[in-house]
Amino acid sequence: MPTDPSEVSVGIQDLTFATTSLCLTHEELARHTGAPLAKYHHGIGQTAMSIPAEDEDIVTMAADAAAPIIECHGSRKIRTILFATETGIDQSKAAGIYVHSLLRLPPHIRVVELKQACYGATAALQLACALVRSDPTQQVLVLASDIARYDLDSPGEATQGAAAAAMLISAAPDLVELHTPTGLFTHDVMDFWRPNYRTTALVDGKKSNDAYLEALEGAWHDYQARGGLPFEKLRTVCYHQPFTRMAHKAHRRLERTANTTAPLQDIGQAIAPTTTYNQTIGNSYTASMYLALAALLDSDTDLSGDTIGLFSYGSGSVAEFFTGTISPNYRLHLRTEAHETHITERDTVGYETYRRLHTRTLPTDGTAYELPHQTDGRYRLAGIHRHQRLYQEAPP
Ligand code: CAA
Repeated sequence: MPTDPSEVSVGIQDLTFATTSLCLTHEELARHTGAPLAKYHHGIGQTAMSIPAEDEDIVTMAADAAAPIIECHGSRKIRTILFATETGIDQSKAAGIYVHSLLRLPPHIRVVELKQACYGATAALQLACALVRSDPTQQVLVLASDIARYDLDSPGEATQGAAAAAMLISAAPDLVELHTPTGLFTHDVMDFWRPNYRTTALVDGKKSNDAYLEALEGAWHDYQARGGLPFEKLRTVCYHQPFTRMAHKAHRRLERTANTTAPLQDIGQAIAPTTTYNQTIGNSYTASMYLALAALLDSDTDLSGDTIGLFSYGSGSVAEFFTGTISPNYRLHLRTEAHETHITERDTVGYETYRRLHTRTLPTDGTAYELPHQTDGRYRLAGIHRHQRLYQEAPP
């Protein structure tokens, strides 16, 4: 085992995701908003969005995502759980503790929650890598779980969604080895935010697109200044995808910023394999870029030994550009079938049901409240009592 931390190969040992049991198609949304369907399907690149059932939230999705990882690898080496979200359910307690309990994990684990809009999971990933470099015998479970909600009838409505990604970070990873240097960019901008008293995000749509692209340029320049790889060495880039068209805009901007001398790759071809999950799930904030990575790994393209870029953006804003090399036998460790099942087994809801679910609220007066069993997932929010959320493993 190398003693110099920089020589330890560290990265993603396992990656999977879960989403909700329900979805709304953009075809159904367009029938009611009057927007041309082409605007949704081509203009923003979305065909459907995941909608949480009444007994689903960020905890149930994260537990659903993490359970197969624990079943496969066990929990003996896990010393840390990092839960990234911008849809937190408690101002004090980390959502990861509920997951820790639902998955019956051992007590000798530190569990914390991280927040910086959609960037939080990348902060968690980098912290996880640093922990594993300092002690390669330990593993870190990174969870990213969010429900993207905008006001009804607002421009952001078509870019809602929900999902959780779970990643096991370890030495000698089976999927993706992550590299240094990384490029960073922070800028105080009010492009998207959600004050504590609101359940839906506030956003300046056009400003947020510009802020994203400026952050991409800033992070890329920092990555280059620190000796990063030239653009031509990257097979493709997984971008944060608030809507999948954004990834195309980002790739065009990066090609220009990098001033590449290579013949321009067809952007559609380079980006399409990274968008298949997000185009039907919608924005999942912290999980979005990791769903893009899952889609790329699950695609037909053989990526063994290839180096890819990853661009994480969190409004407000913090961004990071980094790279990873795909492991030679990564295909033996994919969860493609389970991912497809999560997507295809969702029930499609009509517009009225969607609006009802969007506007419902949970009681805040401490009275006992039971939730109907709607989820198809393994874990559910059973109710609330004395201001405490009560989770359970759903009976089969
Ligand atoms: N056929 C094909 N394309 C069409 C069309 C049609 N009939 N009608 C419109 N379009 C195209 C438009 O030309 C436009 O494309 P370009 O951007 O390439 O010009 C696209 O569809 C969208 O049209 P509009 O700009 O008119 O749409 P809009 O005003 O309804 O707003 C939005 C779009 C700003 C993205 C809005 O959905 C929004 O506010 N979303 C939430 C904010 C967001 O996602 N920001 C992204 C960056 S911030 C971030 O990344 C963090 C995060 O996760 C939130």
